[in-house]
Amino acid sequence: MTVESVQPATPATTALREPPLAPGAVPVLGHGLRLARDPLAFMSGLRDHGDIVRLRLGPKTVYAVTTPALTGALALSPGFSIAGPLWESLEGLLGKEGVATANGSRHRRQRRTIQPAFRLDAIPQYGPVMEEEAHGLTERWKPGETIDCTSESFRVAVRIAARCLLRGDYMDERAERLSTDLATVFRGMYRRMVLPLGPLYRLPFPANREFDRALADLHLLVDEIVAERRASGQKPDDLLTALLEAKDDNGEPIGEQEIHDQVVAILTPGSETVASTVMWLLQVLAAHPEHAARVRTEVESVTGGRPVGFEHVRALRHTNNVVVEAMRLRPAVWILTRRAVTDAALGGYRIPAGADIVYSPYAIQRDARSYAGHLDFDPDRWLPERAGEVPKYAMSPFSVGNRKCPSDHFSMTQLSLITAAVSAKYRFEQAAGSDESTRVGITLRPQNLLLRPAPW
Ligand code: HEM
Repeated sequence: MTVESVQPATPATTALREPPLAPGAVPVLGHGLRLARDPLAFMSGLRDHGDIVRLRLGPKTVYAVTTPALTGALALSPGFSIAGPLWESLEGLLGKEGVATANGSRHRRQRRTIQPAFRLDAIPQYGPVMEEEAHGLTERWKPGETIDCTSESFRVAVRIAARCLLRGDYMDERAERLSTDLATVFRGMYRRMVLPLGPLYRLPFPANREFDRALADLHLLVDEIVAERRASGQKPDDLLTALLEAKDDNGEPIGEQEIHDQVVAILTPGSETVASTVMWLLQVLAAHPEHAARVRTEVESVTGGRPVGFEHVRALRHTNNVVVEAMRLRPAVWILTRRAVTDAALGGYRIPAGADIVYSPYAIQRDARSYAGHLDFDPDRWLPERAGEVPKYAMSPFSVGNRKCPSDHFSMTQLSLITAAVSAKYRFEQAAGSDESTRVGITLRPQNLLLRPAPW
């Protein structure tokens, strides 16, 4: 399947079929209840009914794309924009003027502004901060004590994103505030996405009040960060300077709202996604002691027993494969949506202009049609001699095309470094009260992972 399989629907393509309706729709709510009850199982079962299937969510028809090839074609095609239920719910958080929710020429200009901070050759400058934060974790943890993996993972993700991209003295208190706010806001956003009850979310219920307070504090924090940088008169070579100096299409400085929304649009996906992935990495290290031991042995042999550093990351093959395999089974971004700009053809089906399209990297990355032993945790499937067996686009946790995550190298480097640093020092066991079952929100993460580190 190539991008050519996405075409505008012209008279020549009017023989296109309408995708079948997925089974199980009930009057009024359609598939909504099944989706809300068990979204992962629901999305994973759709491929049995077609490469593209129609879903009814209340009065709305949504098109679900179920094959790796068609999700790749969808993501690579300019005929589909960033929109749909996920993005509508995120706009309340990310603002309308940031890179994650913009489309067209504004989006291209914004990508040009932020891209240099994420280029492969920019990553080494973040090495010292990533090393410090990864080793900082192992120093905070004490053998035998219980680690709350949710807050620890958020903390390290927020600190790395803030310290690398918005250089400044980000006190623990500020990182702590940011991660607490983000956790509340993401919970509320997910609720608004799956249960779009509109005005009900404006009523003064405790959950709504908590959501409003966290969102207001998040915006206040971003204003503080921008104001502090301006007041300092400093212009370090970082993403915040790039945003403050950016010009619009007419060569004018970009507005305050856009700067604000850009900072939010970069900090928020940068923390929630990495934090969730760190939680799953800690979970797999506890659940698969044989791989934890292999990571430790590899780190020792690559570093010669010295503290692992940025310069070792490329040589840590098994560690990197553990990260990739953890992301395959538990992709932080488990659902993505798009909207058809015009009537379009995708995989021989007709998608009408304005239609919402949804697909699930989780379903794609766990499909038995793409992976032998699809539910097994098998990092060796990413060895060069086996990786070629994986169909194209069956493993795209950062997506592809013009909306691909700009931070793939930045994220992979920190995830490998954190995995290596914690595994070199500790093995992990579940602590009393731990619940590693999957919690579905805007990202996937364990419900409440509590681990006890033990020395090797
Ligand atoms: C495990 C870590 C991460 C994963 C799995 C991930 C995944 C993704 C995915 C799948 C998209 C594309 C969304 C789409 O196609 O609709 C995306 C977009 C984006 N990500 Fe990430 N991400 C991660 C970390 C980060 C980090 C650390 C940052 C920033 C510090 C970041 C910033 C962004 C931004 C700004 C976009 C929007 C890009 C655009 O629309 O042009 N992400 N991410």
